[in-house]
Order: sequence, then structure tokens, then C-alpha cells
Amino acid sequence: MTANVIEVNNLEHKYGDLKAVDNISFTVQKGEIFSFLGPNGAGKSTVINILTTLRKLQKGEAKVNGYDVAKESKYVRKSIGIVFQMMCLDYEMTVCENLEYHGKIYSMPKEERRKRIDELLKLTELDNKRNTLAKDLSGGMKRRLELARGLMTKPAVLFLDEPTIGFDIQTRMRMWEYLREIKKEGTTIFMTTHYMEEADQLSDRISIIDHGKIIVTGTALELKNQLGEDLLYLETSDNKAAAEVLRTIESVTAVDDDAKSLRIMLGVDVTHILPKIMDSLRQKGIEITTVNIKKPSMDDVFVHYTGHDLREGYTQEKPEECETVEALK
Ligand SMILES: Nc1ncnc2c1ncn2[C@@H]1O[C@H](COP(=O)(O)OP(=O)(O)O)[C@@H](O)[C@H]1O
Ligand SMILES: [Mg+2]
Repeated sequence: MTANVIEVNNLEHKYGDLKAVDNISFTVQKGEIFSFLGPNGAGKSTVINILTTLRKLQKGEAKVNGYDVAKESKYVRKSIGIVFQMMCLDYEMTVCENLEYHGKIYSMPKEERRKRIDELLKLTELDNKRNTLAKDLSGGMKRRLELARGLMTKPAVLFLDEPTIGFDIQTRMRMWEYLREIKKEGTTIFMTTHYMEEADQLSDRISIIDHGKIIVTGTALELKNQLGEDLLYLETSDNKAAAEVLRTIESVTAVDDDAKSLRIMLGVDVTHILPKIMDSLRQKGIEITTVNIKKPSMDDVFVHYTGHDLREGYTQEKPEECETVEALK
């Protein structure tokens, strides 16, 4: 018996000559919050769209809730809830009507609909906005309504594509609270994000994805621990020469001399090794101008594995809105 709610093997997807998804394999276990963390254009939405049957699978295998995405799409759709990167509410309907309508489409009996709507409005704290038109909600509330809608049918798996894109940190943290509550109900969650902190705080496991490939997968702690005990940042009179010296020191696991500060990964606690580092550099006549010490963060993990900063070149900070829905406004 497998507890894998999502199983993906050797998934590939091309847009013309562009390989947007390049031989991706991963599994998500029941009850997990699993995140794809990666920059704009990494291929996150393409994968989520294939898994939710919105985009046709070209190559590879994917199963959701035990159903084959290509051959049993109807059953896959019955197993899932989706919160898109693009906002897709019906703006001329009230909060309650949006949920009612969704429940009706999925043939939920009236009593069940009412009950679920009450539960979800409570969960997303939209109770007092019941009769407000969707178009009059704030951005954060619209997103919460989308979340409630995605959960109407009590799906086995909830898919969220960049659920907090463009939101301030308070709104984002509230969303995390709701998602933790949903996890408690036993729902498996697959989400994408380009926010390090979001992946770090919320996920049981994270896959870092870049240029259509999964670079590494693990819990936030596993990923950070792989970078060693501490990270030391040094600015010196001669970084290249300093890097040479540092690489000969035991317990120094890696030295990155590409930036203004040398980035030094340590296999031991920095207090044990810092005196030795300073002595060795002094002996070579290298002057240390700045010292910074920190525990590895998700940012460090990302830079380490992809060789670039996630924020570089990221422009899109607002959720897009569906064209069809735009037309209704
Ligand atoms: N419909 C499309 N037609 C052509 N290229 C696309 C299409 N959708 C996405 N792409 C390209 O595929 C790559 C991956 O896109 P996407 O899956 O949206 O990444 P992400 O969600 O991580 O930003 C990008 O280079 C993007 O420009
Ligand atoms: Mg996307």
C-alpha cells in the first residue's frame, strides 16, 4: 500500500522548442504540505497545470490520488481543489454565491453545501462578508475566498499556485495559518511559491526547481543542514588570496568568492574555527575588514544549489486576473 497521493515520474513538457519541464520525478505523501520553490519561469505552473489536468500531459507519468492524470482525468478532477495563480472569481456574485455556485457545479446536495459554506467562511474569516460582492473584497480577502472555493468539495489534494503572490507579510502569514488548519483536516497540499520564507515556514518538504528541473528535495531543516553548521561572511583586503588559504583549512566545507563578501561554509560551530581562520589569514598578510556570521537560511540553500539569488530578475509581484473574469467587471 502506498501512501503517495501524488506520484510523478519523468515528467517533461515543451512549449515549441522550450523545455519548460525537464524530466521531473517526485512523490507527495498523504497529509503533507509539499512546495515547489523556484523563480519565475522555473516551470512551476506548468507542472501544477498538468497535475490538475488543465494542461495535457506530453511525456512521463503522473498520478493524483491514485488516478492517472492522462487516462483518468475525470477522477483526478473529483479528487482535487485548485487555487490558481490567476484570480478566477465571479466578481458580480457575493462571497456566499461564489461558493454556492461552485458546490452546485460539483452536485453537492443543498444541506451539505450550506454546512460546508459555514465552515469555510469561518475558517477563512469571511463570515461577515457573506453578502459582499466579490469585486468589493480586498486582495487578501479575494484570495481567501478562492481558498474557500477550492476547499468546497473537501478535496483529497489542494493545489495552490503562488497563493500569496504580491501580498504583505501579515496577509501572507494569515494564509499560512489557514493552510495549517486545512492540513489538520487531513488534506494533502501541493503548492508553488517563489517566497523562501513561505516554503520554509509551511512545507513538510520542499523541492527547489530551476529551469524545469528539480535541483534538490528535502525538509527545510535537511536542506539547511546540508550547508553545514554556520555560514561565515568575510570581507578582506584580498578575497581571492583569502579563499585559497581558507580552502586548505579543515572544517571549511566550501568557499564562494564570487561576491563582495567571501561566503564560507563551516562544518563546525564558528566559535571553534574563527580564531584559526583569522590567524591563517593574518599570517599571509591578508586583512579582514568585515565579519558576519549566520545560520544557513533558505536563501543560502537556494543560492547554494542554483548558483543564483531567487530575487534576481523577478518582476511579477501581482496576481494576474483571468481574462474571462475581467470581462465581467
Ligand atoms: N503557454 C505557454 N506558451 C509558451 N511558453 C510558455 C507557456 N507557459 C509557460 N511558458 C514558458 O515556460 C516556462 C515555464 O513557465 P511556468 O510554468 O509558467 O513557470 P513558473 O510558474 O515557475 O513561473 C517559462 O519560460 C515560460 O515563459
Ligand atoms: Mg507560475
